[in-house]
Amino acid sequence: MTDRYAVIGNPVSHSLSPRIHAMFAQTTAQRISYGKLQAPEKGFAAAAERFFSAGGKGLNVTLPFKVDAWRWSGQHDTAAAVSGAVNTIVLREHGTLGCNTDGAGLVNDLRRLGWPLDGARLLILGAGGAVRGVLKPLQDAGAVLTIANRTRSKAEQLAAQFQVAACGLGDVAASWDVVVNATSAGLAEEGALIAPGAVAAAHCYDLFYSIDGQTAFCRWAAQYGAFAVSDGLGMLVEQAALAFHLWRGVRPPVAGVAEALRADGGAR
Ligand code: ATR
Repeated sequence: MTDRYAVIGNPVSHSLSPRIHAMFAQTTAQRISYGKLQAPEKGFAAAAERFFSAGGKGLNVTLPFKVDAWRWSGQHDTAAAVSGAVNTIVLREHGTLGCNTDGAGLVNDLRRLGWPLDGARLLILGAGGAVRGVLKPLQDAGAVLTIANRTRSKAEQLAAQFQVAACGLGDVAASWDVVVNATSAGLAEEGALIAPGAVAAAHCYDLFYSIDGQTAFCRWAAQYGAFAVSDGLGMLVEQAALAFHLWRGVRPPVAGVAEALRADGGAR
């Protein structure tokens, strides 16, 4: 029987994960099916139970369920335990294992881009769930982190936990090697979160993606002299590749996957 996987979220209709995993399955000759599962806002646990009881082998978890998935999972890998969020659920012999491949996916994408990491001064904007997931992998890769958030106290809380620096969005200094946008402000098409001096000559990465690569943050950073900009489509592909490896024990090639998605405009 073909093993079944799915991405669970709300909304989930826009998700590119089914297409990414279909490409992985094809290039690695793995026979799997991968669908989309929309759960009601308060219905994560019931939907996940149903999926696994019906023989499902693994789930990817997207907004707004990453913390629900962490609560629901019987066990956690280190990345999920540290971040309090789960983006990948793996069926194991003795129950479900909640994993988090987001942070490693970001680090892999920054490496793929050839951007500075080890010893790099890295500014991360935001202090929500997305940031929680990426701090440790970035630290492990050698980045020297500062967290800036609109609500400064949230940045300070996280900074104390991970022993990094913190500030408010209004008092971000200039001169960074890498600036990562992890606020949800990009969704509202706002570009200017911080004084433009912070992005001048910096490598600027947006955790969000747009199929044409042009998010509001990327456009804004490019306008103010960023050395390079990237949206988060590469991270989406990298986190998916890590999930695929957890499920299938095979590392899918990622080269060309993001380009293929962009080339057909994200058509489903
Ligand atoms: P996620 O899990 O995607 O990180 P979240 O936990 O809701 O989502 O966090 C959203 C982040 O975006 C927060 O850091 C939030 O700042 P606050 O902690 O001050 O709320 C930030 N954010 C959202 N809208 C913003 C805006 N218009 N300007 C600046 N920061 C914004």
